[in-house]
Amino acid sequence: MLKRLDKTLAIGCWLTAALLVLMLFLGPAVVANDDDSQGTAAAGAAPYGKPAGADGKKVFQGNCGSCHTLSAAATSGQVGPNLDGVSLSAAEIESIVRGGRGAMPAFDGKLSGAEISAVASFVASASGP
Ligand code: HEC
Repeated sequence: MLKRLDKTLAIGCWLTAALLVLMLFLGPAVVANDDDSQGTAAAGAAPYGKPAGADGKKVFQGNCGSCHTLSAAATSGQVGPNLDGVSLSAAEIESIVRGGRGAMPAFDGKLSGAEISAVASFVASASGP
């Protein structure tokens, strides 16, 4: 009688242990999945947390530096004109970036409005006199 009880308890213990191990493995996966979906949703809504937080220098390095040389961003692209010497206002640069010009692609829709104005004011302040 006692032996049988022992056996039942042992099986119960193993089942509990197996369940705990299963939860241990499944838990993080479930949590990670949750985090992931929240992360992409948040990223879709506001890539930089708040609209005013776009970093013009980073946007330039990621989207413009392959074509444009600009010392302030340490880029050395040769496709477009060297921007070190240009004296355009932020508004003029913004409209070039939005609409593209010649061989330069339009960035309207590729970058957010906040990113475009951030990169335009970065170039305006980093270039020319
Ligand atoms: C695929 C290469 C390419 C990329 C990427 C590119 N540009 Fe250009 N950009 C050009 C070319 C080529 C011109 C010259 C267009 C013309 O006038 O025919 C130009 C012109 C310009 C001008 C005008 C310069 C002047 O002297 O009038 C500015 C300002 C400018 N680009 C800023 C940017 C910014 C900011 C970005 C990133 C958001 C960017 N470009 C991305 C190729 C590029």
